[in-house]
Amino acid sequence: MDGEIATITLARPDKRNAQTFATWSALARIGESLPEQVRVVVVKGEGPSFSAGIDLRMFTPEGVPGQGSFSSAARSDGADFEQRIRQAQAGFLWLRRPEIVSIAAVQGHAIGAGFQLALACDLRIVADDVSFCMKEPALGLVPDLTGTKPLVELVGLAKAIDICLTARTVHADEAMRIGLAERVVAGGDLDQAVREKVTQLLSTNRDAAVATKRLLQGARARTLEEQSVAEGIEQAARIKALFG
Ligand code: CAA
Repeated sequence: MDGEIATITLARPDKRNAQTFATWSALARIGESLPEQVRVVVVKGEGPSFSAGIDLRMFTPEGVPGQGSFSSAARSDGADFEQRIRQAQAGFLWLRRPEIVSIAAVQGHAIGAGFQLALACDLRIVADDVSFCMKEPALGLVPDLTGTKPLVELVGLAKAIDICLTARTVHADEAMRIGLAERVVAGGDLDQAVREKVTQLLSTNRDAAVATKRLLQGARARTLEEQSVAEGIEQAARIKALFG
């Protein structure tokens, strides 16, 4: 925590920040207990990779100690496992709250759950060595950590199908071109680039930023007429707060 800025660091660089159920419940707990003053949340990974995705021990019969494995889950009631997935997704969903802007600082590999964690954030600032890969379909799985909707919204359906169903790698140039990344910088400049974006984001009025994000998030689901009405409602509340 640093005033209005919270930074979450995946800190298992020796295992390329592979994620487990414990990672996802820790993320959910951070979301639940985020202090009200926080306006910007930065998600980053220590070491050469942002995150190599799910901990591959989940696919072994032994699993991750204390957290089971997919083979034990396969034997359990389907509804139980769906519930576990919902809990894991809770670690990602809060990053879209209107009260905050979330930024993923992504270097190296962002594979599977790592790609989806980057997609869970509002903005992605990436190093020039970034490689995004939605590996799940190659492993017989689907991306289920909330990544499919933001991916389609960012790059369009055709490109999302291409990226996911080939499980190919998207490098920095393409990420920038198709709207996956807001900015590409040299690896050594990533922290500075994120700091600059945080400063810009903190330069606007807090309540106006929250209301504007809420409007932007609702825009796709509304008609132009409905969106105009929503703008009017938000603006009336702003004017009342500022001059009332
Ligand atoms: N799970 C567990 N351990 C992992 C890991 C993972 N996903 N990724 C890397 N590691 C470990 C390696 O086993 C290795 O450990 P040791 O030093 O003990 O041998 C260490 O991290 C370093 O890995 P590499 O030597 O392979 O590092 P690299 O820089 O040469 O390669 C990499 C990095 C390309 C990411 C490579 O490690 C890799 O391909 N990892 C697996 C990626 C993967 O398939 N992830 C699953 C995605 S699907 C998903 O996430 C599913 C879902 O949400 C449902």
